[in-house]
Amino acid sequence: MIFRQLFDATSGTYTYLIASRRGGEALIIDPVLEKVDRYLQLVRDLDVKLVKAIDTHLHADHITGLGALRDRTQCVTVMGEQTKADVVSIRVAEGDTVDVEGIALEALYTPGHTDDSYSYLMQDRVFTGDTLLIRGTGRTDFQNGDPRAQYESIFNKLLKLPTETLVYPAHDYKGDTVSTIGEERACNPRLQVKSVDEYVDLMNNLKLANPKMMDVAVPANIHVGLAQDDVAHREWTLDIAEALALMGNPDVAFVDLREAKERCKHGVIPNSLHAPYVDLMENVHAGGMLYELARATSRRLLFYCAFGERSAMAVRAAQGAGLGSACHIKGGINAWKKAGGPLNT
Ligand SMILES: [Fe+2]
Repeated sequence: MIFRQLFDATSGTYTYLIASRRGGEALIIDPVLEKVDRYLQLVRDLDVKLVKAIDTHLHADHITGLGALRDRTQCVTVMGEQTKADVVSIRVAEGDTVDVEGIALEALYTPGHTDDSYSYLMQDRVFTGDTLLIRGTGRTDFQNGDPRAQYESIFNKLLKLPTETLVYPAHDYKGDTVSTIGEERACNPRLQVKSVDEYVDLMNNLKLANPKMMDVAVPANIHVGLAQDDVAHREWTLDIAEALALMGNPDVAFVDLREAKERCKHGVIPNSLHAPYVDLMENVHAGGMLYELARATSRRLLFYCAFGERSAMAVRAAQGAGLGSACHIKGGINAWKKAGGPLNT
């Protein structure tokens, strides 16, 4: 396995790049905007393909690298379903897995630091975001933070993991890089409390200054979506009413870009093809399934995904491959569902 812990000294952020092998797919956790060139260099050096970028929560102390990585690698962005970020490709809930080739991360909903905080469990290690830090815990005094929820997340979820589980946090300001669940249970000063009330009291009296970057980072991190205003005004972006009107039209092929488990969970537009986003480039170029379908039948490709981000990227890729009529559904299945569009479940 390839496992790299990268550090941004300005914000004290740890970023993790993980792949199962050289030449394979990779994912990145909590990338920092200013370090994106460094990550992409490492991706090339290690000969891996970045396919997913995850933020454990909406950060207040640095601007996320999610949008820049998506724009430069066409990777899929991932956050929790509670996030206020405008558009991410995949929104996970408790128990969902985030997969790339040879790797599965289990999403654990661990609110408290923010209400969109997730931890990710991978075999012998857990990425705890700002929920559980080494000898500390993430502050709970802004962004819908809640010390009571954090107590639950830590004591009833993270500390229930096996003692030897490695703890990889999103930050450290002292130079520590890794800990274990057992070590934190025994030595983390914030966790030496007798009750939830004692913990709440402790967290409510920390009297911390707001992070320096907060006024810049939070608004920026809410708008990570693929220049949505720009995308929305293109003629290749169809709203739900326009897409509904094309159902059953023999000249249009609805193409679902989501992963199999997203389809199971949220349903599928009847009579649509399944062409997962990860294989998109292969599919839209000469010889690929979608390219040949569009060319042989003159059908217009109508892409859709969960929220409209992958599908907007797919339109650009298809147009680049010569399929000029490709279009997509604004807001994806999420908007389709809200409008009462038909779904097979
Ligand atoms: Fe944070």
